[in-house]
Amino acid sequence: MIKRLAAAVAAVLLAGSARAAGGLDPAAASAAVGAEKALAAAAAPAKDSSGNETIWVSFARADIASAPDFPLKSPILSNEGAALFSVPASALPLLSRFMHERFNRCGGFFAYASKAKAAAALSAAPKARASAAYTLDQQAVAGPMMAKVAEPNLRATIDGLAAFNNRYYTADDGVAAANWLKDRWQELAAKIPGASVALFPHSDWKQPSVVLTIPGADKPDEIVVLGGHLDSINQWGGAEARAPGADDNASGIAVLTETARVLADSGFRPRRTVQIIGYAAEEVGLRGSQDIAEQYASAGKKVIGVIQYDMTNFPGSGDSIYFLSDNVDPDLTAFLGRLVDQYAGVHWSTTECGYACSDHASWTRSGYPATAAFESTFDGMNHNLHTEGDTLANGGGDAAHSAPFTKLGIAFAVELAKSAAPAPRTAAR
Ligand code: BES
Ligand code: ZN
Repeated sequence: MIKRLAAAVAAVLLAGSARAAGGLDPAAASAAVGAEKALAAAAAPAKDSSGNETIWVSFARADIASAPDFPLKSPILSNEGAALFSVPASALPLLSRFMHERFNRCGGFFAYASKAKAAAALSAAPKARASAAYTLDQQAVAGPMMAKVAEPNLRATIDGLAAFNNRYYTADDGVAAANWLKDRWQELAAKIPGASVALFPHSDWKQPSVVLTIPGADKPDEIVVLGGHLDSINQWGGAEARAPGADDNASGIAVLTETARVLADSGFRPRRTVQIIGYAAEEVGLRGSQDIAEQYASAGKKVIGVIQYDMTNFPGSGDSIYFLSDNVDPDLTAFLGRLVDQYAGVHWSTTECGYACSDHASWTRSGYPATAAFESTFDGMNHNLHTEGDTLANGGGDAAHSAPFTKLGIAFAVELAKSAAPAPRTAAR
């Protein structure tokens, strides 16, 4: 099975290079089979004659060493930890499947739109950062919000997103789903003075990210980010294949949406700026979040904490919330344990992905404190992910498991951004 898959990846790579060979960009063509010299000059996103994008993907050297049939040859760059290859973007689903079957886990690579970006990321040293002082003192404001979390709202968002054929980053439906989400979030932002929703366009593919901003009243330049990816993927195919992604990751977007709804309906006014983000193109190498985190870092934006929700609805290991233990900030993760104890009414534990498995890793890589809340232990997760079987019905039929994650999201927003006003009198409504 794995052998066949390695051959299939190789075939896609060759097809990509053959197509490109007749087109405008022979450098990209040879790059697809690893001609180092031709690639050395390529710094911009390349397209072959069929409009297929060439991208650069980095893999851990340990992974490559342990997979004798690893299908990519001749890295164009490498350091002690990672190696960089050039491939046609159309090979991404198969590469993702190869990693899944070979290592019994998903993905595990970073994708970049240009060689220059990839090289910069490979050589980037982790940024020094003073650890933020996280304090828990907003019980009067956040406490009364917890009872407002409503499972039917969570379910409605999952149903709404899963109804698109897929949310793939190059599919028309991937764009339509982002617009659908923008409209939903705009209805919520309209209830908060000064709040707004914007599409965040990405120059290298058509699916935008979506950003809801609640400006801070006292420290608007300090940002608290709650995020999750809005795209989905079917590991067997690209832009046409059915990928409901109910758990991966309509569930995370449902948590974000219900968090925003409760904050809005409670009259929350933050001291710091709160941004709720639905990322594009996570499933093809964390590309949307990487673009955003890099732009924030280059602009010198101060992000004081990031929480990632990716798969929250499958109770594969009981009621608990599991925090990822790798590619996260340990101080922030420890603080989130305290928030769960105070507000969410469930147990929590930690689990390891073992690789850069979701968007929190993009923020960590850009030097920001990030954490990620997950539905189960890594082994207990919903194994329908990336197939047409990732439906709400197959995941238990309701959104109950996502409710404590929403309580955590509300607590995260209120305790990190802090309330600009005393608890509103109407909070108990
Ligand atoms: N939700 C999945 C994977 C995941 C598993 C996240 C466990 C958190 C905990 C995520 O959407 C995904 O599939 N990520 C890709 C990342 C890759 C393309 C860099 C993957 O694992 O294949
Ligand atoms: Zn996924």
